[in-house]
Amino acid sequence: MAGIRFENVTKIFHQEETRKSVVAVNNLNLEIPDGRFTVLLGPSGCGKTTTLRLIAGLEIPERGDIYIGDRRVTRTHPKERNIAMVFQDYALYPHMNVYNNLAFGLRNLRFPKREIEERVREVAKMLQIEELLERTPRELSGGQRQRVALGRAIVRHPEVYLMDEPLSNLDAKLRAEVRIELLELQRKLGTTTVYVTHDQVEAMTLGDIIVVMNNGIIQQIGKARDLYERPANIFVARFIGSPPMNLIKATIIRQDGLKVKIDDTLLDIPKEKCENLESYIDKEVILGIRPEDIKDAIILGKDKYIISTVDVIEYLGAEVLVHFHINSDKIVARLDSEVEIGKDRKWRAYFDTKKIQFFDPITENSIA
Ligand SMILES: Nc1ncnc2c1ncn2[C@@H]1O[C@H](COP(=O)(O)OP(=O)(O)OP(=O)(O)O)[C@@H](O)[C@H]1O
Ligand SMILES: [Mg+2]
Repeated sequence: MAGIRFENVTKIFHQEETRKSVVAVNNLNLEIPDGRFTVLLGPSGCGKTTTLRLIAGLEIPERGDIYIGDRRVTRTHPKERNIAMVFQDYALYPHMNVYNNLAFGLRNLRFPKREIEERVREVAKMLQIEELLERTPRELSGGQRQRVALGRAIVRHPEVYLMDEPLSNLDAKLRAEVRIELLELQRKLGTTTVYVTHDQVEAMTLGDIIVVMNNGIIQQIGKARDLYERPANIFVARFIGSPPMNLIKATIIRQDGLKVKIDDTLLDIPKEKCENLESYIDKEVILGIRPEDIKDAIILGKDKYIISTVDVIEYLGAEVLVHFHINSDKIVARLDSEVEIGKDRKWRAYFDTKKIQFFDPITENSIA
């Protein structure tokens, strides 16, 4: 087993036609712990695949070094890295059936026949492709092919698994099932796994550690709960959570302690949140609040509330999403579906101030 370390790694692509350069990975410093499930999360083009390809040895960085365990592998050939990678655009051996596609790598490593058979059956069961072992890749659907590609990496039991959106072609139900299987397998084998996705739900359920990236730069590293409850900046606040955190223009003022002014309403800021806010007195900040931390003031019997105008109500069964606005800021609250909003569409929104966060409007970093 082995952890992976990036030290000041930069990867630049020079695009020949446009003669422009793209910094795909920008001075990356990252410690991927041994034996854990690490997820790289970020929007399209943020550098996730490039980061995986650097680990695999399919890209060589312009600057910096990469270590697997204690070994510096920056320029080591991919074959010498004992890594199994599932690519975003996977390719199977077209002339071999599924069984042979899965067995191929193990045969090359001269595994005994019995063990090959055992491992192939185990993986096929886990990925729900047992019925397909005799078929060739062109007789499979996209989602089935993708599972075979994943299986081919899994059977090898390497030191490191690299997985680039390996479930993207599966339907939601199968995706959720395979996700749990993957997690169980990783727990059982304890293989260092780096998993790329742009789906924050997938990242939250799978990752022991989640690395949020944007424009080739790490935005935050943490457990799902850290990212959700204490986003380091506005980018992470917006990226994690569905619907995302509400971000509202507000002003900090001093009046019997610190208060935050939204529209014409003054809300008390709990003592523990006041730290670092002194330098923002009489200045604008961005207030962040999760949809579930906005409640119905009447039901809770609260006398401090913001009167808002409701735009749309989305009924989702167990809950409703109430979309409203305060000046130009659009806001969503997640409420129990019993809540009834008045006919005039005026709604008294209570903000749970114990849960609010503040961000600097210029740097966009958390003020905490
Ligand atoms: N071979 C290449 N030549 C030129 N530019 C590239 C090359 N590969 C990637 N890039 C650029 O580098 C940046 C990062 O690409 P990368 O494939 O790592 O993104 P990603 O996070 O995996 O995105 P996605 O979620 O869409 O797969 C992008 O701007 C991309 O256009
Ligand atoms: Mg990619």
